[in-house]
Amino acid sequence: MAQAFLHNPSPLLPTRSAPRQAAWNAKPPHLAFEAFEGLAPEAESAAVPVAAQALAEQSVFDEITQGLLQQPATISPKFFYDQLGSELFESITRLPEYYPTRTEHAVMQQHAAEIAAAVGQGRTLIELGAGNCEKARALCRTLAPACFVGVDISADFLQGAVARMREEFPHMDVRAVGADMTRGVTLPADLPRTGRLVFYPGSSIGNFDPPHALMLLEQMRELVDGEGEPGADGGLLIGIDLPKEVEVLEAAYDDAAGVTAAFNLNVLTHVNRLIGSSFDPAQWRHLAFFNTLQSRIEMHLQAMSPLQVRWPGGGVRDFAAGECIHTENSYKYTLPAFTDLLARAGFSRARAWTDPRGWFAVVHAQP
Ligand SMILES: C[S@@+](CC[C@H](N)C(=O)[O-])C[C@H]1O[C@@H](n2cnc3c(N)ncnc32)[C@H](O)[C@@H]1O
Repeated sequence: MAQAFLHNPSPLLPTRSAPRQAAWNAKPPHLAFEAFEGLAPEAESAAVPVAAQALAEQSVFDEITQGLLQQPATISPKFFYDQLGSELFESITRLPEYYPTRTEHAVMQQHAAEIAAAVGQGRTLIELGAGNCEKARALCRTLAPACFVGVDISADFLQGAVARMREEFPHMDVRAVGADMTRGVTLPADLPRTGRLVFYPGSSIGNFDPPHALMLLEQMRELVDGEGEPGADGGLLIGIDLPKEVEVLEAAYDDAAGVTAAFNLNVLTHVNRLIGSSFDPAQWRHLAFFNTLQSRIEMHLQAMSPLQVRWPGGGVRDFAAGECIHTENSYKYTLPAFTDLLARAGFSRARAWTDPRGWFAVVHAQP
């Protein structure tokens, strides 16, 4: 079933400038990607192979342990997404408190005709952080792209999502790439360089602090520029969560049913599996609050008693009772602030659609 193909570096690879690479990762990765392609084991019957660009284990180990040794400790939100984490996130999107998914969907439905006219038909649709691909499925119904490429770090979960995509759109060329987009994504070498639409919904751009968000947007701009192809005519369709009442924001990240808490705590189990650490999730609790000064929701895990976490190679971190691990930021941009960021990333044209309450925006941007 597995078939090999060559991967060419894409503009999402942060290799074009050394300063950008250094700033992006705080520290350059120790090892390069190992590229391979194959089907996720439980999905042998699915028709869409996932081109998985696994990070070298040493590099993941180094990134996580360096974060744990920081003051305060951090774990990148990308480690939320093992299979269970992806399923928990899907449950979050259906919670009454979690307005972003519903609101973004409503904006896209309400303005579907205008968005389709702005974006154009027959594109190559590339969704970053595709997850269950639900939003892309809705978009494909109006845009009828020739090709869809889903990119996600949670490769097994992506496998199921793209298989459903191919079922619904049997004539569309459907591809899947399992990759950590902060480390680089290698798109299929035969992907057209013109007419690309990068789709980055869910306000995931808010998970990066503004300098890193700018770098990511620059890389998206290079991607839609067709990697230097003249007349590439590409665009970016991106979801932005806008500032609103603190109560609404905080409830969305700390729901009554405790699903977001389970999602946050699951990162510890995933980290144990990735690096062999000794976290006991029962010793931690979920915290989420709005940091007004930084205009961002912060998620943390707080130690409920003094405790020690160990990992192979003699690594150890002591936590005092009440000490936190910072696991996620979700920046809330005003539209002018985000349009400014887009302009700095080289997108000179932008058009936005919002919901009547002004809670969420969908922005189409072009170089
Ligand atoms: C907040 S969810 C959004 C999912 C979906 N796009 C939506 O809007 O509902 C973030 C998605 O991005 C993926 N993701 C997170 N960090 C990633 C990374 N560094 N590289 C690739 N995918 C990533 C997660 O696995 C998850 O599917």
